[in-house]
Amino acid sequence: MQKIHLIVGARPNFMKMAPLYREFSKYPEMFSLKFVHTGQHYDERMSKFFFDDLQLPKPDAYLEVGSGTHGVQTARVMERYEKILQSDDPDLVIVAGDVNSTLACAIDAAKFHIPVAHLEAGLRSYDRTMPEEINRLLTDAISDYLLTPSRDADENLIREGVEKKKIHFVGNIMIDSLVSHLNRADESQILNKIKLKKKEYALITLHRPSNVDIKENFAAILKAFSEIADRIKLVFPIHPRTEKQLTRFGLDKLVKSIKNLHLTKPVGYYDFIKLQKESLFVLTDSGGIQEETTYFRIPCLTLRKNTERPVTITEGTNMLVELTTPAIVDATTGILNGNIKRGSIPKFWDGKTAERIVEIFRKKI
Ligand code: UD1
Ligand code: UDP
Repeated sequence: MQKIHLIVGARPNFMKMAPLYREFSKYPEMFSLKFVHTGQHYDERMSKFFFDDLQLPKPDAYLEVGSGTHGVQTARVMERYEKILQSDDPDLVIVAGDVNSTLACAIDAAKFHIPVAHLEAGLRSYDRTMPEEINRLLTDAISDYLLTPSRDADENLIREGVEKKKIHFVGNIMIDSLVSHLNRADESQILNKIKLKKKEYALITLHRPSNVDIKENFAAILKAFSEIADRIKLVFPIHPRTEKQLTRFGLDKLVKSIKNLHLTKPVGYYDFIKLQKESLFVLTDSGGIQEETTYFRIPCLTLRKNTERPVTITEGTNMLVELTTPAIVDATTGILNGNIKRGSIPKFWDGKTAERIVEIFRKKI
């Protein structure tokens, strides 16, 4: 019997860990699972909503670390997860993505000589000003199983000198969640609730520090939104970081004055999937949403200088947009004029990634 810890902490972790939880649960005689939630995200709409929508069990351990600077948050997770490891001693720890909780738990496990599996390994933006890039590099460096979503990730790891036998190209786990919840998402009433029709609106999300923590950048983006809203309705489920910055910079009045813009609190998984699927296009700086739009073949304008997910550009529907008001407006005008990229779905973004991963660990026993 293998004892496995599945680590979650922030919103994008839940949809990555849910398919693995379900797949491992099919073999109760081989695996015993523990869900550890660090509490990096704690608002109902950033955490509990996803446990409900994704039918996840209540966490076996909840570390309640909350918000803080990078140092404080990472250290708090390390301190509290170490205590769990001292009493529980799992055979494998699985971490996902690139958030602070990912790195903190990986470090703890590695120091206890517990094998670490990293879901979504090998992605690189080659931009070390992003906190996530530091988390990716360091987590990969101490992981034993590097579970990659695309071939470019394998190549990045090989370039960094990682042994080939540690690298497993398994595909995109987020797409597993998307595929298995599509029917339920189709039943979402969100469009009726906010009185929108299919393809008559664009969906927006923003939360990168480079976009929302610098007042001039945030203002340039909002100015673009106000111009775009002359031509199409906008829906903007706002991340808590972004909502705080809006108030701090006194930009809340500007955003509320945009007539065609529907500002809402973050929404649950089904509602968000429905909003994405029926939108004309998406404007975002999210990592996961670049991937989900590629799967849906919905154009995605990414407000960033680079992406750690290049396959969404080379094969998918993604396009990087420079952070200036005219560049953002121009990119959306292209789409509104019918210049729509449909792309193709990358290899192994097929809903079977969890199966491929569990197979790796079944063979080990
Ligand atoms: C984090 C991740 C980022 C990921 C994002 C997904 C890191 C370094 N960053 O960014 O990679 O893309 O999650 O959403 O791990 N807050 C609340 N309620 C919450 C959570 C946060 O109000 O439930 C507010 C707090 O003011 C907090 C701020 O949001 O200080 C930022 O939260 P934090 O987890 O530090 O970073 P995110 O921007 O959410
Ligand atoms: N998402 C959601 N509700 C929202 C915004 C996003 O359910 O209001 C989902 C989205 O479908 C995707 C994930 O959250 O599955 C992406 O998380 P986020 O953008 O916070 O993080 P990132 O991927 O950038 O790390």
